Amino acid sequence: MIQIVGLSKSFATGKDVVSAVSDVTFEVQPGEFYTLLGPSGCGKTTTLRCIAGLETPDAGKIAIGERTVSGDGIFVPAYEREIGMVFQSYAVWPHLTVFDNVALPLKHGRVGNLRRAEINDRVLESLRLVKMDSLAARYVPYLSGGQQQRVALARALVVRPKVLLLDEPLSNLDAKLRDEMRLEIKELVKGLGITGLYVTHDQVEALSMSDRVAVMFEGHIVQEGVPREVYEEPNSLFVAQFVGFANFLEGEVLDPPADGIACVATPYGNLSCHSNEVYGKGDHVVVVIRPEKLRIGREETDPLMNTLKGVIRRIVFRGASLECLVEVGSKALQAVFESGSAVREGDQIELSFAAQSCAIFRH
Ligand SMILES: Nc1ncnc2c1ncn2[C@@H]1O[C@H](COP(=O)(O)OP(=O)(O)O)[C@@H](O)[C@H]1O
Ligand SMILES: [Mg+2]
Repeated sequence: MIQIVGLSKSFATGKDVVSAVSDVTFEVQPGEFYTLLGPSGCGKTTTLRCIAGLETPDAGKIAIGERTVSGDGIFVPAYEREIGMVFQSYAVWPHLTVFDNVALPLKHGRVGNLRRAEINDRVLESLRLVKMDSLAARYVPYLSGGQQQRVALARALVVRPKVLLLDEPLSNLDAKLRDEMRLEIKELVKGLGITGLYVTHDQVEALSMSDRVAVMFEGHIVQEGVPREVYEEPNSLFVAQFVGFANFLEGEVLDPPADGIACVATPYGNLSCHSNEVYGKGDHVVVVIRPEKLRIGREETDPLMNTLKGVIRRIVFRGASLECLVEVGSKALQAVFESGSAVREGDQIELSFAAQSCAIFRH
């Protein structure tokens, strides 16, 4: 539905040239909810603005549906691309009512020349989708942030786009509202059968909403996959650090990987670690272990199980889980246990974790 091939865009700022997006290639399938995830400044907004027709790419090709909208000497202007867009700053007009804000694209855009009755129907239909129909007559300054963002969403949907581009639409909302809106947006987009391209720096949003995620760093896509893949099988230290929380242990390879398992010396002891890369003896590596992969107790049955002795130094009750700081020798590991686990601060415990659940990366 959206096809991006070799997209590049730089900006001249004074004497410098900033490369915002370089050689980015990805494809979003019809009906898919696809997310670009990355830290601030990595080129997410620029990518989205190129797709929307708000920036002219330096190189590359963009197709929406069957139609090339940019590249090969073609440039289709923004208002002729069949997309809706929602920005972080709601970009709704304060001097207009909710109704008039949502009606704007029908009066000025590609759809144009609709009869008054039809405009009315479509605006109300769109407002109903975002549960704002009862506030149609209200002026924007009298709405909360969440309601303003709903208006922006309704305005993007009113043209019945095939593709919806969302640029950090939840970033200005408070945490509770963000949680609710995440699911609501995804269900709305899925329910309408629209192809969604979402941009965020928030990994929780990306993992919980998306069919697939592309992790961006410094203008490049560094990994693409379903959320579970990106979380459980990061292909670089950057992705492991950026997506989710993890323990990072410095170590040195003792036995290079054989059958995908290496032995690594760390300040926590020698660990069996998973890797499909080639490493030599003595290579400096970082071992990555997710806190929820640590289990209490020794598991003798699996020879590839690592076991460490430790003392629980701190327990934070999180409702559904316990976040524990476990001291191992002079070091500490973050662990997450089920909240029913019978552990107390000061307890001596054994921690076990499978070689498959600790990966190594070059230092
Ligand atoms: N209009 C612009 N003029 C100059 N530099 C820009 C412009 N837009 C973006 N940039 C730069 O391009 C890089 C990528 O920006 P952006 O796409 O906004 O990243 P993100 O949305 O991931 O935070 C940043 O270094 C940013 O400063
Ligand atoms: Mg941005």
